[in-house]
Amino acid sequence: MSTVTPLPVAQFVRIAETARASVSFVLDGVELKALAGDTLLTAILMHQQHVRRSEFSTKPRAGFCLIGACQDCWVRSEDGTRLRACSTTLREGMRVLTQPVSDTESYDGGAR
Ligand code: FES
Repeated sequence: MSTVTPLPVAQFVRIAETARASVSFVLDGVELKALAGDTLLTAILMHQQHVRRSEFSTKPRAGFCLIGACQDCWVRSEDGTRLRACSTTLREGMRVLTQPVSDTESYDGGAR
């Protein structure tokens, strides 16, 4: 008999406002659903435990301030636009990447 409790798949669990309309988006190539009015950060953390990996330690990050001040939640749209996930409202069909496109790029100010 195992005594290890499995980790939850998602960081967030929705407990209210569950009747809002569904919105589809693509995260790292995987089509997912969230609810209209969700921030991008909420939409991502409803499906996984981190929003990106630190460019310094590669450890997972899930945002810090959640109010647009700390810059811990940068992600990128597939067209290259940088998005602060906690202050970006999810839109139908958004295509989002959680990691820099190349090793020479970071989310905290461009090229290293
Ligand atoms: S979590 Fe701090 S800016 Fe987004």
